[in-house]
Amino acid sequence: MTYQFDHRELRDVLGSFVTGVTVVTTVDGAGCHHGLTVNSFSSVSLDPPLVLWSQSNSSPSHPVFSKSGRFVINILAEDQVDLSNRFARSGPGKFANLVVDVGAYGLPILKDTSAWLACKLVSAIPGGDHTIFIGEVEQIQKATRKPLVFGGGKYLVADPHDMVPSPVEKSSNEGSFHAMRLGGRVMARLAAEFDQSFALAVWGSHGPTVMNWAPSLTSPRKTLPVGLVLPVTSTATGIAFTAHLPNSVTEPFVKAELASSSIEYWNAEVRAARARGLAMKLDNLSGGDSALSVPVVDASGHAILTITAVGDPDQFVPSFDGPLARALYAAGKSLSRRLGYVGEEQGACGTAEVVKSVD
Ligand SMILES: Cc1cc2nc3c(=O)[nH]c(=O)nc-3n(C[C@H](O)[C@H](O)[C@H](O)COP(=O)(O)O)c2cc1C
Repeated sequence: MTYQFDHRELRDVLGSFVTGVTVVTTVDGAGCHHGLTVNSFSSVSLDPPLVLWSQSNSSPSHPVFSKSGRFVINILAEDQVDLSNRFARSGPGKFANLVVDVGAYGLPILKDTSAWLACKLVSAIPGGDHTIFIGEVEQIQKATRKPLVFGGGKYLVADPHDMVPSPVEKSSNEGSFHAMRLGGRVMARLAAEFDQSFALAVWGSHGPTVMNWAPSLTSPRKTLPVGLVLPVTSTATGIAFTAHLPNSVTEPFVKAELASSSIEYWNAEVRAARARGLAMKLDNLSGGDSALSVPVVDASGHAILTITAVGDPDQFVPSFDGPLARALYAAGKSLSRRLGYVGEEQGACGTAEVVKSVD
């Protein structure tokens, strides 16, 4: 048959189907490790658990994979482009100076990937100039690392779609705009009263996102780019949100930022912030700022925005007690009430519970 497209055109069309990136590894009879970068990986069946990938028949490693009877699908993480390039090159030495784990049957398993699946080859089906290998999954492991993505001939990163509604069941968009309008006014008043810079943030698809800011009246003025996405675990804003959003919303961000050994300490920090109604960072990692943050919660008790006093550590030394902390706390409380929150009355700043636990 004559086709009305050439290889280039076909590749371009296929490239619009975006995939993850894997390195498929195996071991030969002599104990040597083999591997190649593969994006033709796909799931086939859950019961029994089957997956497939296809390999060019002209690949030098094709005979090894046809014979070895077992392979591991290593799903690369977003920072493993170098590893993908290393295994996309032909020739020996792909494993040189690379530390790998060795699994069952001596199979090499790459480190720090997003996930891996160890498989037994159950069928090798001819598919044009490729062979489709179907494997039964025998062992799996998943980490919290975000996967690397490939599409249109380029490496990409996976991020949630901005247009998808936030997983927090919060008030309508109109409600959010209303909250931001009110918050913006309060922030400007506080900036003038305390000669301090303030930022207003919402929880967007990528985590805490600066939507507005009010500079201090005199220098040094802080400039906070609108749209700036802040880390969750190392900013007062991130802590304030985590203390007043459902765990299911914040947990993926926290896990992506923190080693599991730090989670207990982090939970204690969040509990303290929830109890105080204020969150503080003395030396914020995203630029070395000091910050004090208050959540504004909607009728459901979820943080709809945060207002954060922010400044260079040598100019701004926040505390939980003092006029600024009290004014910020009171502003958060009064805004929350205006947005319909009718939680229990709180006592003095520093001791009270602002909202109920939302874990
Ligand atoms: C993102 C990406 C995806 C790839 N996917 C496949 C694939 O699914 N099947 C394949 O045979 N080659 C694929 N390749 C090409 C192989 O990785 C490459 O030809 C490699 O050199 C083969 O290893 P070998 O020469 O040791 O056999 C891909 C390359 C890249 C960069």
